[in-house]
Amino acid sequence: MKPTEALLHDILDEVRPLIGRGKVADYIPALANVPADKLGIAVCYNDGEIIQAGDSEEGFSIQSISKVLSLTLAMTLYEPLEIWQRVGKEPSGHAFNSMIQLELENGIPRNPFINAGALVVSDLLHSRLSAPQYRMLELVRELSGDPHVVYDKEVANSEMQHSDRNASIAYLMRSFGNFDNEVMPVLTNYFSYCALKMSCVDLARTFSYLANKGLPLGAKKSIISQTQSKQINALLATCGLYDGAGEFAYRVGMPGKSGVGGGIIAVVPGEMTIAVWSPELDPSGNSLAGTAALELLAERIGRSIF
Ligand code: DON
Repeated sequence: MKPTEALLHDILDEVRPLIGRGKVADYIPALANVPADKLGIAVCYNDGEIIQAGDSEEGFSIQSISKVLSLTLAMTLYEPLEIWQRVGKEPSGHAFNSMIQLELENGIPRNPFINAGALVVSDLLHSRLSAPQYRMLELVRELSGDPHVVYDKEVANSEMQHSDRNASIAYLMRSFGNFDNEVMPVLTNYFSYCALKMSCVDLARTFSYLANKGLPLGAKKSIISQTQSKQINALLATCGLYDGAGEFAYRVGMPGKSGVGGGIIAVVPGEMTIAVWSPELDPSGNSLAGTAALELLAERIGRSIF
């Protein structure tokens, strides 16, 4: 069955009682002020049709969802080995900002979707682009079709003021020779990517290329190959929700990526891209009601990659 807006409204009504059971991220002070009762969902079909419900057009901080965009951009700039000798393809089984494995594994992060991995990818972008922040914004505006997407400077500054952990991760990797640039400029870019402000509709449109073999919405030319699109989806399915990836695969059964702003994107290859937003998080840092909404949707429309 194909989802309808009525179904999306029903699903939001069903998960709304979960609000109050999670916790809004407060380690980034600017995120702690977001009202916990926001709830939105948008579905973008590969033909461009959008259906949506709730706070689906309100912008929020996409946070780690940006890690998929950084990887995509890096894959357009580098040969596979240049990326994969510096970052792995395995689930970490640890929190997104954990440092435990890094020292034991010689400064090579487990995957590009934990903070350490995304910092390496940001380092790669820094080495090859003269203005990485500008290029990223250009890409996101292109993919979403929304020329008004911006970096939320308050969020980016707030992260910079509380950057000790990410800076430590980057310096540790640098001590192992797995970080080529000065840490602070790369961190500044990384925080900007995380501070991209987008709505569920923007996100569903943006990640449409992952449901459509690398071809962005309305474009004539793919940004990445079909193989690269499959590779990113595989990494999302195994690593996109950190140490909650197994639980997400079990409950939702779609490649997905979360952010501590409470957003999650999920991909039904060949068919549609879904974005949800509910700011309260579960203990793994993934949107609690957002995951429940995706679980209900997957079940009601009978979709799973498994
Ligand atoms: O670097 C950080 O900690 C945040 N800017 C991003 C973390 C995040 O979104 C993890 N997601 N669930």
